Amino acid sequence: VGDLTAADLKGKKVFVRADLNVPLDENQKITDDTRIRAAVPTIKYLISKGAKVILSSHLGRPKGVTPKFSLAPLVPRLSELLGIQVVKADDCIGPEVEKLVASLPEGGVLLLENVRFYKEEEKNEPEFAKKLASMADLYVNDAFGTAHRAHASTEGVTKFLKPSVAGFLLQKELDYLVGAVSNPKRPFAAIVGGSKVSSKIGVIESLLEKCDILLLGGGMIFTFYKAQGLTVGSSLVEEDKLDLATTLLEKAKAKGVSLLLPSDVVIADKFAPDANSKTVPASAIPDGWMGLDIGPESVKTFSEALGTTQTVIWNGPMGVFEFDKFAIGTEAIAKKLAELSGKGVTTIIGGGDSVAAVEKVGVADVMSHISTGGGASLELLEGKELPGVLALDEVERVAV
Ligand code: 3PG
Repeated sequence: VGDLTAADLKGKKVFVRADLNVPLDENQKITDDTRIRAAVPTIKYLISKGAKVILSSHLGRPKGVTPKFSLAPLVPRLSELLGIQVVKADDCIGPEVEKLVASLPEGGVLLLENVRFYKEEEKNEPEFAKKLASMADLYVNDAFGTAHRAHASTEGVTKFLKPSVAGFLLQKELDYLVGAVSNPKRPFAAIVGGSKVSSKIGVIESLLEKCDILLLGGGMIFTFYKAQGLTVGSSLVEEDKLDLATTLLEKAKAKGVSLLLPSDVVIADKFAPDANSKTVPASAIPDGWMGLDIGPESVKTFSEALGTTQTVIWNGPMGVFEFDKFAIGTEAIAKKLAELSGKGVTTIIGGGDSVAAVEKVGVADVMSHISTGGGASLELLEGKELPGVLALDEVERVAV
C-alpha cells in the first residue's frame, strides 16, 4: 500500500507522524496554526474511515523533558479543527500510553507528548523506533517539515511498521515541489531571494536546470553585482562567493535561462526600520549606503517577466521585509503571484520567509501551493531526496 486511500483503515491503529512544530508565545499561545491546519485533512480522513489515530510530533528542540515544549497547548485548536475532543498522553511511549491506545475508540485521536523529549528520537535509535511502531498497525508520515530528518519517528519507525505510507500533506508537497517543478507547464520562472547566496547555491543550481526565467532578489544580489564589477556601498556581500556568482551567471547563459537581476534598489543609511532611504539604479549605490529592497523599476520588469509564465516557484524575500519601509518589493511580488494564480498560473511558495511574506499580504489562500517546510523545502528544491520520504513504501516519487 503506497497510497493512504488504498489502505484498510477500519478499526486499525494508525501511527501518524505530523509536523505540529508551531510557534508559541510566552503564554504558550499558538501564534501561527498553519501546520496544525495542514495536518487536518489526513487526520480527518482517518477518522472518517474508523481508524484509531495515534498522533505524534515534535515541538521545538528540547533537551530532555521540558514543559515549555509540551504539545498540550495544541490540544484545544486541534480538537476544534477536527470537531472531536483529542485525548492527550503525557508521554509518547510506555504503559500509560499503551493503556490510552487500548481504550481509543474507532475515529478517536490520541496526541502523544513531544517525541523529542527522548534523545533516542533524534539519534534514530532502533529500540525507540520499535517502541513507537509497536503501538500501531500502520504508519502514515505527514510530517513534511521534518522529512529531511532521519529520526526515529520519521524514518526508523518504518523499519518496524508496515505498511508505511505518505499522508495527504506530504504527498501534496511532493507533487508541487518535485512534480510541478520537474515537469512544469512552461514558461517556468523561479524567484530566489534571501540574504545570502551561500544558503541558496544548491537551490539556484538545481533550478537553473529546470527553469526558463530566474529572477534574483534579496541581499544576495549584491554579491552578484560586485562580481560584475559594480560598487555596492556597504551592502551585504559574501566576498568568498564572488567567483561562484560569476559561475552561476555564466551557467544561466549557457543554459539559455533568462536570469534577471534587479535594475534598481532601495538603499538605506543604516540597517534599521527608520533608516533614511532612497531608490537608485543598481549601478549607483553610494558609499556608506546599503541596499535593503528591490526598486520599482525592478518590480515592473520582474512582473512583466512573470506575466509570460505558466508556473512560478518563489523561495526567499526580495528585501528586508520585516521593516515596512523595505517590504515593498517583496509585497509587490506576492501580489503579482496572487494575480497570476487567479489566471490559472501554478504558483508555488517554497517555504520559509516567502511564506511569511505571502501571509503578511493576505494572499496565501490563492496560491496553488504554500509549503509547510523550511529546511525540508530547501533540500527538496536542491534536488535532494528526503530520508522521511525514502523510507516509505512505494510512494509516488518523481525523479528530480
Ligand atoms: C522545522 O520547523 O523546520 C521543522 O519542524 C524541523 O524542525 P528542526 O529544524 O528542529 O528539525
